[in-house]
Amino acid sequence: MPEITFLGHACFLLQDKEKETLLFDPYLRENPLAPLKPEELKPDYILISHAHHDHLGEAYEIAGACNATIITTPEIASQAQEKGLNAHGTSIGGSYRFPFGRVKVTVAFHGSGIPGGHACGFVINYYGQNIYFAGDTGLFSDMKLIGELTPLDLALLPIGDNYTMGIDDAVIAASFLGAPRVIPYHYNTWPVIQADPEEFKRKVEEKTSSRCFIVSPGESYSW
Ligand code: NI
Ligand code: MN
Repeated sequence: MPEITFLGHACFLLQDKEKETLLFDPYLRENPLAPLKPEELKPDYILISHAHHDHLGEAYEIAGACNATIITTPEIASQAQEKGLNAHGTSIGGSYRFPFGRVKVTVAFHGSGIPGGHACGFVINYYGQNIYFAGDTGLFSDMKLIGELTPLDLALLPIGDNYTMGIDDAVIAASFLGAPRVIPYHYNTWPVIQADPEEFKRKVEEKTSSRCFIVSPGESYSW
């Protein structure tokens, strides 16, 4: 049974017993809501959606400390490799098979935070479970295609507005994706992205076939 732990903001940890651990967008030291410190994590892989400080965060530090492989866009992967880290770059629309399963890099409408790059999302096949991590993005109608191409088991969606989709657009995203489960993130870290996850849950469950699971920083959800 896979388990996903929310570490605040856009940071998640995906694991399943002795299998590989995947860490997403670690932003812990400066995040007032982070439940642990970067040195407490020993992931096998670190996925980075873009190079803004609240996503790249401590990714390089953690990768260096535990020899994790970074999975990201080619521009960030090159920067990581220049620092002597293990990194695999995949461009938008491409996919690559890792020991735990295939990772496809999807479009995300957002700044890249690095010259020449793009922000991205990921569709991760983790031992047969399909998980969509949207990264930082506005709503886009090709989310329908993401759900059609890959029957999703879980979608992770930003809801905080201002830098990403807000609640109402994220509800439409959930309807496009058709995942049976959604978990919101990228809210309440700062006043500018204040949002009520209960409102998101109520609207998602009213208007779509998805169920919403609100996971507080430090809590886990298994399915
Ligand atoms: Ni960003
Ligand atoms: Mn962000």
